[in-house]
Amino acid sequence: MTVDGSAHVAEVEPRLLLLHHLRENLGIGGVHSGCNTTNCGACTILLDGESVKSCTVLAVQADGHEITTVQGITENGLWHPMQQAFHEAHGLQCGYCTPGMILASISLLKEKPDASEEEIREGLEGNLCRCTGYENIVKAVQMAQAHANRQPAPAS
Ligand code: FES
Ligand code: FES
Repeated sequence: MTVDGSAHVAEVEPRLLLLHHLRENLGIGGVHSGCNTTNCGACTILLDGESVKSCTVLAVQADGHEITTVQGITENGLWHPMQQAFHEAHGLQCGYCTPGMILASISLLKEKPDASEEEIREGLEGNLCRCTGYENIVKAVQMAQAHANRQPAPAS
């Protein structure tokens, strides 16, 4: 599989979850483990550009596919516009849900660039923020919509 632009070859047990392969075998700590039961969205990644919960996918099912984690969305040292919007709108508190929220939001706007507030809320309903920071998360997604063509700032 390709993970954040790099090819990875591995032999894994058929029962290994993609979540655990990414975290434990490849050391990608930005893929968070929350519930392991498809409820919280902390483990969200992009699989061939679409958001999926990596605790619902076996590592072997990702064979030959392209995975993007939050650690692979900056380009040439620049924040992804969604990261910038989360930063500016303070779309995070403890940050545990943030990687999954950002990836789910990227996937949502790719599918529905002009999503309404209601559609944003519906689109993110599979991602839980235990700090209940939803208001600013929705504002961040709306900011990313508004600034879709803005030049991103340097990542730090
Ligand atoms: S860890 Fe995958 S949805 Fe919670
Ligand atoms: S910012 Fe704390 S869980 Fe979302």
